[in-house]
Amino acid sequence: MMGGITVEVKNLSRSYRRADRTIEVLRNLTTTLSSGSFTVLTGPSGAGKSTLLHLLGTLDRPTEGTILYDGRSFLDSSDRDLAAFRNARIGFIFQFHHLLPEFSALENVLMPTWIAGGKKEAVERARQLLTEVGLEQRLGHKPSELSGGEQQRVAVARALIMEPALLLADEPTGNLDSHTSLEVFSLLRMLSGKLSMTCLVATHNEVLARMAERHLAMDDGQIVSDSGG
Ligand SMILES: Nc1ncnc2c1ncn2[C@@H]1O[C@H](COP(=O)(O)OP(=O)(O)OP(=O)(O)O)[C@@H](O)[C@H]1O
Ligand SMILES: [Mg+2]
Repeated sequence: MMGGITVEVKNLSRSYRRADRTIEVLRNLTTTLSSGSFTVLTGPSGAGKSTLLHLLGTLDRPTEGTILYDGRSFLDSSDRDLAAFRNARIGFIFQFHHLLPEFSALENVLMPTWIAGGKKEAVERARQLLTEVGLEQRLGHKPSELSGGEQQRVAVARALIMEPALLLADEPTGNLDSHTSLEVFSLLRMLSGKLSMTCLVATHNEVLARMAERHLAMDDGQIVSDSGG
């Protein structure tokens, strides 16, 4: 197991220029996610949660400020180096799972390993992960043959197959009923703990927020409260 990564966010700003004005979406945000920690991020719609997750996931570059991953900055790295880092160390889970409809549950979980060049032991690992999320009887099912909660559990397994050091989840339970939300969230927390990954989960679900070790709340591009952790 590779374990987590410490992420230091320093004076991070992200703004968008529109014809006549600048929209400041993240404003001088500073925080640290310690290696192996599990944090929930809440805040009203438009607060900047997804923007922050995109920056942390190296899918976007800040207007100002830096993000250090175990002390390393990628600000001057090429897109190619950034992509290599992202593929090897960062896992994503989104509100809409983005499973590929023509592939089975097992194949969807294996997809990242195929993209990375494929390892023989990956099939066994994928089976094991699908078993851990309770889908050992559904390996050959296509997404359309799975319930919403089951599809999201496949997405959890897919995010974990590469054993990322940093797991970013953007409203992973946004589409699910409260019972299934709790199930998927608990699974995510259990598995990320087991693999000692650094995990940040954005959600509108206050019940889930109260269950986390640490709860960051954002409003208007800034962190307005930081509890636990
Ligand atoms: N490409 C863009 N150009 C201009 N403004 C943008 C762009 N992307 C996002 N924004 C603005 O940034 C703000 C923050 O958006 P973001 O998606 O981070 O919010 P959020 O906290 O994830 O909200 P939600 O809970 O609704 O998902 C919003 O006001 C949005 O309109
Ligand atoms: Mg969002």
